[in-house]
Amino acid sequence: QAIQDMRGLRVVVSAGPTREYLDPVRFISNPSSGKMGFAVAQEARDRGAQVTLVTGPVNLADPAGVRVVRIESALQLRDEVVGAAEWADIVVMTAAVADYRAAELATEKQAKVAGDVTVHLTPNPDILAELGRNKGERVLVGFAMETHAGVERAAGKAQRKNADFILLNYPTREGTAFGGDDNEVTLVRADGSHEDWPRMSKREVARKLLDAALQVKQKAAPG
Ligand code: C5P
Repeated sequence: QAIQDMRGLRVVVSAGPTREYLDPVRFISNPSSGKMGFAVAQEARDRGAQVTLVTGPVNLADPAGVRVVRIESALQLRDEVVGAAEWADIVVMTAAVADYRAAELATEKQAKVAGDVTVHLTPNPDILAELGRNKGERVLVGFAMETHAGVERAAGKAQRKNADFILLNYPTREGTAFGGDDNEVTLVRADGSHEDWPRMSKREVARKLLDAALQVKQKAAPG
């Protein structure tokens, strides 16, 4: 049994992709598997935390002992995460939130037309940034996937979104990030300081992530 060092703490985790419907049968999404977020939820549960997992559509069963909320769109994710975060001590945003949704949602299936079509997209709210604007005592952790200038860009995101740290991962490394069971990440703080972690299982990344979140908490409120 894991050490119960998160007993009494409330943790909210977002996981998986969002789906942004264009019409009743078509959507924009991404290949997020949800594995990273589920690993964080399970690790926090095993350490005694009370966990809410808000997840987009993924092929993973509800973990026992975790409150699981299934959503599809970024707007639904935002409602559930912001609601649950009100009482949370730690919020971990692993969800791969779509940046845009259809400006108008067609209520009927759109028929094929000859030639090109244009889809009007409108930006989704940035949930992590919204939590950062009303941060309170909460520890906020984000993820970022970058193909270039990763540390710099992730530090900029941590700063703009007021997150305590961001775990940067790389879409191009075999067997990691999207869909993989392993991950290779760099912890990046807003001031640009960072730590490279070696490749390890997502469960081990979850363990180290929660260790780092607890450290932030202890610094904020010693003893
Ligand atoms: O800006 P970018 O999408 O790279 O930031 C990634 C981080 O921000 C992730 O933690 C993701 O869950 C979160 N995010 C969010 N709302 C969005 C987009 C990203 O909370 N609309």
